Amino acid sequence: MSKLAINGGSPLLNADMYVRPLQWPIRDAVGAQHLLDVYYSGKWSFNSETEQKFEEEFAAAHDAKYGIYMANGTVTLQCALDALGIQRDDEVIVPALTWVATAMAAYYMGAKVVFADIDPETMTLSPEAFEKAITPRTKAVIPVHLYGSFADLEKIIAIADKHNIAVIEDCAHMHGGKWAGKGAGSWGKVGSFSFQQSKTIASGEGGICLTNDSKLAELLYRAKHIGYSRAEKQGSATSKPPMGMPCYNYRGLAFTAQILRDQLPGLTERLERYRKFVEILTAETAGIEGFRLQKQGRLATFQGFYATNLFFEGPRWEKIPVTKIAEAMQAEGTSYYCKNYGPVKDHLLFNMRPGEFSWPEDGAPNAYHVWERSLVFPHQELYDIEFAPRLAAVIRKISENVSEL
Ligand SMILES: Cc1ncc(COP(=O)(O)O)c(C=O)c1O
Repeated sequence: MSKLAINGGSPLLNADMYVRPLQWPIRDAVGAQHLLDVYYSGKWSFNSETEQKFEEEFAAAHDAKYGIYMANGTVTLQCALDALGIQRDDEVIVPALTWVATAMAAYYMGAKVVFADIDPETMTLSPEAFEKAITPRTKAVIPVHLYGSFADLEKIIAIADKHNIAVIEDCAHMHGGKWAGKGAGSWGKVGSFSFQQSKTIASGEGGICLTNDSKLAELLYRAKHIGYSRAEKQGSATSKPPMGMPCYNYRGLAFTAQILRDQLPGLTERLERYRKFVEILTAETAGIEGFRLQKQGRLATFQGFYATNLFFEGPRWEKIPVTKIAEAMQAEGTSYYCKNYGPVKDHLLFNMRPGEFSWPEDGAPNAYHVWERSLVFPHQELYDIEFAPRLAAVIRKISENVSEL
């Protein structure tokens, strides 16, 4: 007789054992009142006090000196490249597995995108693959702290410094994380964050660049605000942006900045709960052959979980597609967990033409392995600590009856 619920066995969990305690996105009456206050203030953009306060608070929370608030986490990457002087035909190295926006931002700036393979444990840019991809035209590298696991900043920055390459941290998935005790986004020349609807703190849309360099801060501001200096008022420019530097309207809104101001104080407490969840899940799944969780970065002292990945690897699992495992888990009473983004060049939304990017000669085997063998477990579910041992029990049950799949 079948044991697994997907084959007609009884499910391990009932509906009460799986609760999402967190309303997403986070919202409450206090936040709604704050939004009304912004509304009645009439100061909705143009470097309003609300934006400035959020910039200060978010930068301080990440140990950076300057924050430049923008419309989303794609244009923050574009402006970072712009402020760093990346030009047409310069090469920008990005990981072979990330959300397409990391690569497209460099493409939109006219740069040639050079993909480099990832480390299969953390799912982030491999320092060795990065070094191999460097040419005399390489001007920038964008390590991504994917799903909240840190890229190896120490090694990547050391290699980049040796070759005079600017490091832009893509922290879209890394709100509130600390590497060697210092905030995400404060290690590279620029740190770029997204606050899109699903992110760990979320305002629908929004983004910020962090930097410790006052000159870069000024250029980032000019890049997002049509060329104005931060010292100037809208409508009365007194100085010129650098000749030829593209300057856009990529301003963020005071409303979204206010939503983020309300969410920021609760971030550390939530991340601590996520950490606890992952700790319990790791302990309770110990010994399940071929199962593991995405590894956090080597020197991470506090992980900014945006998700984590569940890996099913090795001879016991490799013939079973992870989507089938996800269906089996769902039948046992969990929600459905999906595959990660996959190798960028195969993503349906990736539309660079051949010659406009380069893919590693070895084909980026780690990016493909990770794509085939992991399921994304979203941060909203990491909130429910009581669910951790139940999830572990589901994985154990499937593992013990893997021959049924
Ligand atoms: C890794 C990564 N980089 C950049 C972005 C772009 O952010 P946005 O959607 O705010 O433009 C995202 C967005 O979801 C992302 O996941």
